[in-house]
Amino acid sequence: MPEPQYSNPIRLLQWYAEAGIDEAIEDQPIDRYAIAARARPSAAATGADQGRQSVPAGSRPLPAALAQPRPAVAPASPGVAASSFDGAADARRRAASADSLDALRTALAAFDGCALKQTAMNLVFADGNPAAPIMFIGEAPGRDEDRQGLPFVGRSGKLLDSMLAAIGLDRHAEKPEQAVYIANILPWRPPGDRTPTAAEIAACLPFIERHIALVKPRHVVLLGGTAAKSLLNRSEGIMRLRGRWYEHPVEGLDKPVSCLATLHPAFLLRSPKEKRSAWRDFLELKSKLGTSV
Ligand code: URA
Repeated sequence: MPEPQYSNPIRLLQWYAEAGIDEAIEDQPIDRYAIAARARPSAAATGADQGRQSVPAGSRPLPAALAQPRPAVAPASPGVAASSFDGAADARRRAASADSLDALRTALAAFDGCALKQTAMNLVFADGNPAAPIMFIGEAPGRDEDRQGLPFVGRSGKLLDSMLAAIGLDRHAEKPEQAVYIANILPWRPPGDRTPTAAEIAACLPFIERHIALVKPRHVVLLGGTAAKSLLNRSEGIMRLRGRWYEHPVEGLDKPVSCLATLHPAFLLRSPKEKRSAWRDFLELKSKLGTSV
């Protein structure tokens, strides 16, 4: 998306917000114009005054400060070279060693194998009642979730809460049979709410698998394509996957957990006509709960 040349800084900030750029990710602002100007050779040195053609922007060497790669993934421990660091293997080890939800949260907080941790404000672990028979799993925290450290507390969370209420469920209900538990595939917000990469998902998947094993829900509801495809390891789109039950084997559970895929509330906010399908899925869940107690 080409950046408009707004002279009014408020309009420029609005444009950034609309494009999803709503968080500062460095401690200090970087004046990239100054860096670029310092790196630009003078006209005399480049021969620009002799009519030499300018170099296309993409082929110019990056200024040193910008060319420095940020460490995407930190070494698991001092002494382990970053290049040999396998985030997913480290995640599996750490997740497997957690024998309680508190231990899992601590293990996630100590895990440096997913670069999203560096840009997120908070770890978003879970909300609701872990004794509930149903565990909802979304994609990743958004801005409100990142700020509050809780999943589904923004606009899509409000919609989720009202859909739950419509089938007699409430994430904060004391009675487990009326409650739900909620987590995400990724516990850190992707900058600007972009779609998580395959590597980010792979690095965090062992933690959500372990999360399921520790909660032992009777059913898992997967909200949206990213959650459904990554947990079930399927390639079909959510429109094909939704409304159906899948038996998903989880290490540490003696039988597969039954998972229902449905549409993500954020998608329903953008496409209200799809609420009809999501409602069918919620009624299916309600009827399954009635028969599977
Ligand atoms: N979308 C998600 O997938 N998860 C959240 O927690 C919030 C929005």
